[in-house]
Formats: sequence, structure tokens, C-alpha cells
Amino acid sequence: MSDRSLDDLRIDVGRLVARIEELGEIGRVLGPNGERGCARLALTDADRDGRDLVVSWMRDLGLDVAIDAIGNVFATRPGRDSSLAPVMTGSHIDTVRTGGRFDGNLGVLGGLEVIETLIRHDVETERGIAVAFFTDEEGARFAPDMLGSLVHVGGLPLEEALDIRAADDGARVGDELQRIGYAGPLPCPAAAFPHAFVELHIEQGPILEDEGVQIGVVEGVQGISWTEVTVTGQSAHAGTTPMRLRRDPGVVAARLTAFVRDLTRELGGDQVGTVGRMEFHPNLVNVVPASVTFTVDVRNTDEATLRVAEQRVHAELQRLVEEEGCGATTRTLARFEPVEFDPAMIDLVESTAQRLGCSTRRMPSGAGHDAQMLARVCPTSMIFVPSANGLSHNLAEHTDAADLERGANTLLHVLIERAGL
Ligand code: GLV
Ligand code: MN
Ligand code: MN
Repeated sequence: MSDRSLDDLRIDVGRLVARIEELGEIGRVLGPNGERGCARLALTDADRDGRDLVVSWMRDLGLDVAIDAIGNVFATRPGRDSSLAPVMTGSHIDTVRTGGRFDGNLGVLGGLEVIETLIRHDVETERGIAVAFFTDEEGARFAPDMLGSLVHVGGLPLEEALDIRAADDGARVGDELQRIGYAGPLPCPAAAFPHAFVELHIEQGPILEDEGVQIGVVEGVQGISWTEVTVTGQSAHAGTTPMRLRRDPGVVAARLTAFVRDLTRELGGDQVGTVGRMEFHPNLVNVVPASVTFTVDVRNTDEATLRVAEQRVHAELQRLVEEEGCGATTRTLARFEPVEFDPAMIDLVESTAQRLGCSTRRMPSGAGHDAQMLARVCPTSMIFVPSANGLSHNLAEHTDAADLERGANTLLHVLIERAGL
């Protein structure tokens, strides 16, 4: 292909949408208003079926498919010079229990679409191009989130990761990997890292849509802190126990939940805070609970403010526990500092999108992403496309085909540029 016609090279959005739809059928969840969402929690049967389908597409394209010991899957189209590290793209295909069809899936299937476009147009690159999907990005079943990419880059020892247990059923990562057939032979951390990494993802928030901007140029990812709190008190009869004699962990949990909201207001800026999971034991209408276990998720792009938020939450927990005569234990489920992406990769995403005629906006990511782990080992950035109504981690998650197309075409030309011709 001449340089001119290469500039005009475009992905096939019909093919991309068809794959997103087909993968979205696995673990499909229908919402009350006809929303078509997805439940493919990491390392469940549904996740295995999704993996098998994507791997079959990778093999159909003749790619070299390799699996590592934490179940990350890498499919590579070799370049002309096999001595050079490939350029990598990818994301995840696990979802939260009430997820959509685009979160993560777009990055994997968009990468596959880019590779298929290059194959069909006989465009060879100097470096290979790899598309990966990483295990348990969501962290909804096994904390922390971004588990597979974290282990891939050496941020957590493999043996520790394999021993992590599921929040719901207590299953062990290592056992589940064996069970679904994805405990692969490649070592963790990886023996070699990519030349560069770029991840295409839906924004998962309202900003691009609100401002009418087509492509988000992602400059980094905010810091993430997840804590699991268990408060214990005295389980007792709800009718007979005078209020002054109660030691009620439910009250502590409820007050701390409200405190997290108030704290985000007080700290202001981009501080966010969420209590997303709460379990009462024994969870009965007429029993003062014996214990309550819940999670606190706080995030900020500024590490110092994030630390303040964590300290304030802990101090308030201690105060509430003392006031109510309860006890509390805490466990860190995830803690990642804010990440800044590579300036040259950020510039490349921006200039490429603009060259393709897209409007752009630089922005941080509010959600965690595999790219933040890859950023530890190679120049990295991300491409965001708008999310309809800003919704994600929601069955109604949607991105229009025209936006998917703009994002995947930006990915195509960023990868060509980085892989070289
Ligand atoms: C992962 O998707 C997260 O940001 O919670
Ligand atoms: Mn995601
Ligand atoms: Mn997600």
C-alpha cells in the first residue's frame, strides 16, 4: 500500500459491532426496560465461554495465541523484524455482575479489528502487533482490580495472586484458572514487555457526551483505594433490647456511609467516594445485626488528597465504633497511586485522532484500567470514546457505532505509527 492509501485505511465497524454483539450474548442479562447487559464475572463459566469465543477469533486470524500463568491471553501478529518487541493493545472481557457489552470488550475486540484490517489489506508492520485480554480487570469477584495486568508487570507475586479468594463464594483464583482451562505456561511477571501499549475504552462517564467531544485523550488514571470494613457488635432481639443498651454495627455502617459522602463534598475537587457493597449478618428484620461487612472505594487524581481521605475515613470509623461500643477490622482490597501516562503516547493519540478529523479533549480516567499497570513497564496511553448518558457498570451501557468507529480508527493509526512500516 502506498503511504497515501495507508492514510485512508479504516476499520470495518460492522464487523466490530457484530463481534461486540456476539460476545455480549455470553452471560447476557436483560434489564427491565430491554437493556442488554452482561454478567461475566472473572473466571466463571461465562468468562470461560467468552474467552473461548475470543480465542477462536484470534486463531481464525492466524495469530500466535499464548496464555500466561494468571490467565492473561496474548494474540500476536508477527512483524517483519521478530527481534523487536511488539506494540500491544487490549483490555479485558470480564464484567461486573450488572455490566454492559462495551466496558473492556471494546478494547479487546477493537484491537482484534485493527489486526484483521491490517491482514485483509496486506499491511505489514516492522514490529509485531499484539492484542491482549487481561484476567479479572474488574475486581468484582477477586480483589484487587486489574489483577491480571498487575501480575503480568510484576506488581504482585503470582503465588499471592493465585491464593486470592472470591468475595462471594470463596473460590480460589488458582483453582478457578485450572477449572476453566486458562492456567497457561507463560511466566508471570512476563519475560519481556511490549514496545508500547495503547488501550481503547469507553469513557464510562458523562464528560465527552456532555461536551460533544468525540475522542478522549487519556492523560492518566486517578488513584484508587478500596477498603473492606467489618464492624461487630451485639446481636440481640429487635423488640426487647432498649436502645441505650444496644451495640449495633448497622448504625456504624450507615453513619460511615453518610460520612463518606460528606467527606467528598468537604474535600471537593474530583474526590469521589462510594460504599458499594454491604452485608448484614444475620440480615433479619427483627435482629440487631451481629456484624456488618462493607466496602469503601475512594479515588482522587491527587495522591496527597487521597491519603487525607483514607485517614479521615479511618478516624471516623474509630470514632463511630467507640461511640457504639462495637469493634472493627479493616482490610485493604486495592491501593493504586495515580498514574500519569507517557507524554509522547498522549501526543500521538491526540494528533492521530485530530488527523482523522475527530474532536478531542485531554482528560484523566476515573475508572481503573489495565493500561495503568502496563504504564509501569512501557510507554502507554488510552483512547476514550463517549458513553451514552455517561452510564457504565450498568446494563444500559451503550456507545454508538460511529463513536466505536472513530475510536477503533484512532487505535489503528496509533498502532501503525508505533509498529512502523
Ligand atoms: C474498574 O473497572 C474500576 O475502576 O473499578
Ligand atoms: Mn474496563
Ligand atoms: Mn469496569
